[in-house]
Amino acid sequence: METILIKSGTLVTPQGIAPKDILIAGEVIAAVGEGLSAPHNTRIVNAEDVLIFPGLIDAHVHLREPGGEHKEDFLSGTRAALAGGFTTVLAMPNTSPPLTGCEALAQTKALAKSKAVCDVGFFVGATAENAEQAAGLEAVVGLKLYMGSSTGSLLVADLAGQAAHFERYPGVIAVHAEDEEAVVHFAKLGQRRPPICAALAVSRALALAERFQARLHVCHVSTAHELALIRDAKARGVKVTCEVTPHHLFLTAEDETRLGPLGQMNPPLRPQKDVDALWENLRTADCIATDHAPHTLEEKRSSTPPSGVPGLETALPLLLTAVREGKLSLPEISRLMAEGPARIFGLQRKGRIAPGYDADLTLVDVGAEWAIGTRSLQTKCGWSPFQGRKVRGRAARVFLRGREVCANEEVIAEPGYGQIIARFAA
Ligand code: DOR
Ligand code: ZN
Ligand code: ZN
Repeated sequence: METILIKSGTLVTPQGIAPKDILIAGEVIAAVGEGLSAPHNTRIVNAEDVLIFPGLIDAHVHLREPGGEHKEDFLSGTRAALAGGFTTVLAMPNTSPPLTGCEALAQTKALAKSKAVCDVGFFVGATAENAEQAAGLEAVVGLKLYMGSSTGSLLVADLAGQAAHFERYPGVIAVHAEDEEAVVHFAKLGQRRPPICAALAVSRALALAERFQARLHVCHVSTAHELALIRDAKARGVKVTCEVTPHHLFLTAEDETRLGPLGQMNPPLRPQKDVDALWENLRTADCIATDHAPHTLEEKRSSTPPSGVPGLETALPLLLTAVREGKLSLPEISRLMAEGPARIFGLQRKGRIAPGYDADLTLVDVGAEWAIGTRSLQTKCGWSPFQGRKVRGRAARVFLRGREVCANEEVIAEPGYGQIIARFAA
């Protein structure tokens, strides 16, 4: 068992910023404190020049395997995660075939086990038929319910079908909250998924969660209206959490005009006033998740471009840059990208730098100035909607369960080092 002493680092936790040493024994953190002494045979890592975050957790990624391996697979997607500073990702079930039951889960897990370089958890997808089966499925992190159609075939658009899941599911129900009837109706009027589609779905999901005492998580909140609904529901005691994405924080509807299909995702980019509301109400958000949704450039440039953008390798640099601009604080990054997702999805031993927790650490170089698009990307899709943007800061070294897995932009973990994780039985 290797012991590592990370010396003279600056720890960033939701509570604040403090100089600390971290002693790692095997896969876990053994001690955190000032002036820790190194036991015999300890490898010393000098962390003087970096900030140390808990290993970042992305609660919303599409890794495309099985069925979409030409755009991403477990190896390329988890390599992108490590390069971006994420040590754990939670994968969405809208694969082909979709992950909707124990057989698909077993098959998908086997694929991930041999290829993943970071830790991976899975959502089971809700269908009109699987409420019973999904509720009994263990070894996942939650249920994903598409209230409106998006990439893939998963959809539960009707109230009865949705209620069946809210009544039974014992864990977290993550919703893609765009109301299908509204999406179809406004499409006929030539409007692509206007904010009302999200507002209608969020209010219905909140009402269902309240009625059935379910645990709701609203994915990719993108409008002021949704935030207001969620804030009020939280105040009433509804068990709801929510996430925002970097693309909804750093891009607006105007960028969609500029980017064309490369700026097309569901829910779509919003007007500046909604983007401002997200920034002003970041306190209502429980986590930032990338919704990493890679599609090839060829697909994006086709006559029927699919929705979705990659995000794993750009999220942290964008947010570190926003800290410099005074838009959020470093401790907030720690809350929104590590502690928050771990708490929401019950990821034991993740999200904190404390004795007994997994030794997952993201060491950040805050000085590095660079422009997105000038470094090569690990994601198979190979492009970013943030192309050309100047950012400052990036993950310099990443540790996962006590092993250095990424150093100087190079992913050094071998395929299969990543483990499959699940929600602890609460
Ligand atoms: O833009 C999106 N892309 N939104 C989704 O809901 C799905 C995702 C994908 O899987 O491509
Ligand atoms: Zn979604
Ligand atoms: Zn998604």
